Amino acid sequence: MFKLTAKALACALSLSIAGVVHAADPIVIKFSHVVAEHTPKGQGAVLFKQLAEERLGDKVKVEVYPNSSLFGDGKEMEALLLGDVQMIAPSLAKFEHYTKQLQVFDLPFLFDDMAAVDRFQKSAEGQKLLTSMTDKGITGLAYWHNGLKQLSANKALLEPKDARGLKFRVQASAVLEEQFKAVRANPRKMSFAEVYQGLQTGVVNGAENPYSNIYSQKMHEVQKYITESNHGLLDYMLITNTKFWDGLPADVRDELNKIIAEVTVEVNKQADALNEGDKQRIVEAGSTEILTLTPEQRNQWREAMQPVWSKFEGEIGADLIKAAQAANQQ
Ligand code: LMR
Repeated sequence: MFKLTAKALACALSLSIAGVVHAADPIVIKFSHVVAEHTPKGQGAVLFKQLAEERLGDKVKVEVYPNSSLFGDGKEMEALLLGDVQMIAPSLAKFEHYTKQLQVFDLPFLFDDMAAVDRFQKSAEGQKLLTSMTDKGITGLAYWHNGLKQLSANKALLEPKDARGLKFRVQASAVLEEQFKAVRANPRKMSFAEVYQGLQTGVVNGAENPYSNIYSQKMHEVQKYITESNHGLLDYMLITNTKFWDGLPADVRDELNKIIAEVTVEVNKQADALNEGDKQRIVEAGSTEILTLTPEQRNQWREAMQPVWSKFEGEIGADLIKAAQAANQQ
């Protein structure tokens, strides 16, 4: 009788210790991404970790995995849905399996500048897109800027005909595939981690990236020319697993939301300067010539690529495209 009670007591004790230990365990947020640390997204992830641990240190631990070190961009969305990571920030080009509406951000020559992008993302229509995938288990938390994309190749690309027949790496986006087909080039989908090698070995001849991604992946070392085309956007949606997020204690979720709002302001403020700094570093490296287009040349690219819009208007929605365009005129 005594023996049994002692055993039961020991059992209860160990359970309660386990319970106590469990209750004190911080919530682990794994944040995986595919770019280098010294990029807008890389810096955003680091700042998020810093602020979350400063303010919620006993409750939350953030682990950041940069440079595709945990999951590459082919796998990170699946990992988020499986609960293997809790936060990722894929480029807006990588969501077409979950919602077609976000394809709006890939339309070439849609936004005049980053200020227009910012206005659209902050508009009611832009904000609504953050919840466009909750039925798939994905909650959008914020938009993070990187910047406008530049074309690169080992050949000077000044007019659309210069791209003819070249193989361009594209992200997993039907819009971007069509964009290159429109100038009679050959798009090739490839994950971000493979781009440098793809360019080096000639599997692809060219690419489209903001300066921060070109510099941090050393792509300029294997591309003789960059055309400052600003023809499209590379921005991100910071996302989480809906079930995970909704299951967080309310006080933790509220504080994380506040932190994300702060980090977003910071990332979006710094992104331009980061890209500009990396452009200068590429110039200084001296291996790549940066080409500027005349207004006429840029117009030729626009005229060649813009017909792509009509192919996707049905999927994206004409009203959404109009709302995005309207952000240029404010
Ligand atoms: C790309 O694949 O080119 C980008 O989406 C990488 C990134 O996350 O900036």
